[in-house]
Amino acid sequence: MLEGRLVRLRALERSDVERAYTWVNDREVTQYLLLRYPMSRTQEEKYLAEAAEQGNGYADTRLAIDTKDGLHIGMCGLHHGSAEDRHASLGIMVGDKSYWSNGYGSDAVMTLLRFAFEEMNLNKVELGVFDFNERAIACYQKCGFIEEGRRREHYFQYGRYWDIIDMSVLRREYEALQQNQAAAAR
Ligand SMILES: CC(C)(COP(=O)(O)OP(=O)(O)OC[C@H]1O[C@@H](n2cnc3c(N)ncnc32)[C@H](O)[C@@H]1OP(=O)(O)O)[C@@H](O)C(=O)NCCC(=O)NCCS
Repeated sequence: MLEGRLVRLRALERSDVERAYTWVNDREVTQYLLLRYPMSRTQEEKYLAEAAEQGNGYADTRLAIDTKDGLHIGMCGLHHGSAEDRHASLGIMVGDKSYWSNGYGSDAVMTLLRFAFEEMNLNKVELGVFDFNERAIACYQKCGFIEEGRRREHYFQYGRYWDIIDMSVLRREYEALQQNQAAAAR
């Protein structure tokens, strides 16, 4: 388990299927994700079974986000890990909308970054975010991510194209953020 301030990140289980199936078919959630087509329960069961059986590792780490009370509110992970270049891509979905904008997402991201830099020895964590996803961008900026560039008109949704913003945080930037936060708390 990875302990955050508000959340606990744990391995995914097959028994997570009901909540996960609801979230990946909730348009209010999936409009922010690369999830265009409705997902069957069978697909979700297969995804969770694979995650549970393969386990987590450098190439792919897939985790559930639980509150400290043990309520499953979302999923996150580090994907496409490169051992040579020491970077990976972060993905996150707080599927339970009642938890949005209450600090749970940024706590999950910071917990994942701590694991990425202090345990997996990564040097860089990157992600892509739709330009209209202002909540996610604010969350990532709080966690030290900066914009690297834009994939212009990369995703078609709601009858038009949207840019994807590429963001990343380097290990030294994460460490500086940690030091600044510790100094501010003193
Ligand atoms: C993106 C996501 C992980 C963020 O988690 P969260 O718990 O909602 O976010 P946090 O509360 O930690 O941080 C969000 C910040 O954005 C702010 N915010 C919310 N709506 C905003 C808006 N429309 N514009 C600007 N800032 C906004 C919040 O006030 C908060 O900042 P604060 O802590 O300084 O007040 C979560 O909302 C989510 O999973 N959304 C659906 C799926 C998704 O977008 N995934 C990411 C795909 S790249």
